[in-house]
Amino acid sequence: MATSVPADRVPDMGKRQLMNLLLLGAISLPTAIMVVPYATFFAPPGSGGGSGGTVAKDALGNDVLAEVWLKNHGPGDRTLTQGLKGDPTYLVVENDRTLATYGINAVCTHLGCVVPWNAAENKFICPCHGSQYNNQGRVVRGPAPLSLALAHADIDDGKVVFVPWVETDFRTGDAPWWA
Ligand code: FES
Repeated sequence: MATSVPADRVPDMGKRQLMNLLLLGAISLPTAIMVVPYATFFAPPGSGGGSGGTVAKDALGNDVLAEVWLKNHGPGDRTLTQGLKGDPTYLVVENDRTLATYGINAVCTHLGCVVPWNAAENKFICPCHGSQYNNQGRVVRGPAPLSLALAHADIDDGKVVFVPWVETDFRTGDAPWWA
């Protein structure tokens, strides 16, 4: 048998809407508190400067200052720095003692070993499976399928700044596979 609630015990519409609002708030506030940090975890961190650039770091983790670097690295030098997303990236000193406007990502396009520079051979030679890249990082022998990735190496306020390379790969004339 159904029991009926006396009319004076049923909350009126205004009270019910208020209770619904309070309930909604009670559910959505903790949800927002949980979701916001979760969402920001996946958002890329600010890079400072807004250009997507990253200041190159030397082996000690210090910012690379172009002038100091060129005092300590002669023509033809290719030395690793920390580049975009922390990738090992070669800074290149041209024969006229200026810094090349590109850096070469040292991650082998075969299976990801860091490829050392071999000055005697004038090539990058991967120790893992023997892939070779010319002095600009263009692949010249497999099994690596692709050339080493590029980044722009700009100078900003005396510091070397790597900026993503999204233009045509000047070594191959192809679209950049890494962009
Ligand atoms: Fe470089 Fe295989 S990882 S050749």
